Amino acid sequence: MAMKFPDGFLWGTATAAHQVEGGNFNSDYWLTEHLPVTPFVEPSGDSCDQYHRYREDCALLARLGFNSYRFSIEWARVEPEPGEFSAAAIEHYRRVIGACQDHGLAPVVTLHHFSSPRWFAARGGFETAETGELFARYCERIAHDLGDLFAMACTINELNSVVHLQHSGVLPPDEYILQLPWRVEAARRNSTTPERFSMFPFAARGVTGDFILQAHRLGAAALRSGRGRFPIGMTVAMQEIEAVPGGEENAARASRESEDHFLEAARGDDFVGVQTYSRRRYGEGGPLPPAPGAKLTQMGYEDRPEALEATIRHAHAVARVPIVVTESGIATEDEARRIAFVREALRGAARCIKDGIDVRGYYYWSAFDNFEWLAGYAPKFGIIAVDRTTQVRTVKPAGQWLGRVARANSTEIGD
Ligand code: BGC
Repeated sequence: MAMKFPDGFLWGTATAAHQVEGGNFNSDYWLTEHLPVTPFVEPSGDSCDQYHRYREDCALLARLGFNSYRFSIEWARVEPEPGEFSAAAIEHYRRVIGACQDHGLAPVVTLHHFSSPRWFAARGGFETAETGELFARYCERIAHDLGDLFAMACTINELNSVVHLQHSGVLPPDEYILQLPWRVEAARRNSTTPERFSMFPFAARGVTGDFILQAHRLGAAALRSGRGRFPIGMTVAMQEIEAVPGGEENAARASRESEDHFLEAARGDDFVGVQTYSRRRYGEGGPLPPAPGAKLTQMGYEDRPEALEATIRHAHAVARVPIVVTESGIATEDEARRIAFVREALRGAARCIKDGIDVRGYYYWSAFDNFEWLAGYAPKFGIIAVDRTTQVRTVKPAGQWLGRVARANSTEIGD
């Protein structure tokens, strides 16, 4: 069956500032990466030095065949101290957007992708009632200065992360998080308490979901009030949720609390960003590890490209707004496997479109082998390899392949 995508479909790759820019000194992540006891296997360092190499990177992505690029603006650079904005940092992002435009890449910006200014984490991060106003003040400034240049904006990346990680059994209980040595030390260095120092998404209090949703709402309103009209939405971390016999109730609860609660809040938005990597099964006792013998990615979760179709359908049914696949990808060193994964995921997206679901774009995670948070540089999500000593970029076979798919606007291009 021919799998043509609609005209104007957005084909891109996604990155986040802290994962590719390098030298994000003023962020809570940089601080935590450099503590004597830290959950990070290595610091982010110079990363892919995209802060300086964005021009070449945009040129390369455009040459490959993409028509869009999703990247994030780093709040820690733009507002280094509360209420004090850096015009120079904002100008930097104007130049990044300009580089996208020069190369025919529609700029899709994320206002918050995990990292925050250090002062924000020290004031309670997303765990306090003032979160919304602080985030909106930053959004307002960005919208005022750059809003006329955006093709689309995502407020907060995976704003359901905390609840999602809790339901997946990844985040330990709250009391434990509060006593983690790195949290205690980070608080001490910022003259605050471990109860207060909060770094996304390692939040420790159940209230976070609502403060984050309020931040999304106020942030979106601030973006709307600025220059320019562009679609605005949140992005949601999703999984294909499945129950083994006896796990029906747990699966339903995980779906309701970690996804639907947020997807329902997206109803008034212009789109919702679906971000899917795998499937999670639930049994009577809660989340289950992948089935014995299941094929795993470098991240330890199941290699399950079919999950994208399932989550697009679910997001559509609950949110009832247009969908953008803002992240989909696999960590592997095997390019044949990466291509097979993306092809399968895209076929699923194409089936959704054929059934009338309004899917507007697909962003592969990620453009580059970048800083994969706690896991450092070991997992290889990129379609472009980066030699981190010389910063030389090398396009991988999947990069060439996906670029051709983007140009043909179809997955059926042969290998
Ligand atoms: C995040 C990315 C991350 C990717 C792969 C997503 O949850 O938005 O920042 O690198 O997953 O783990």
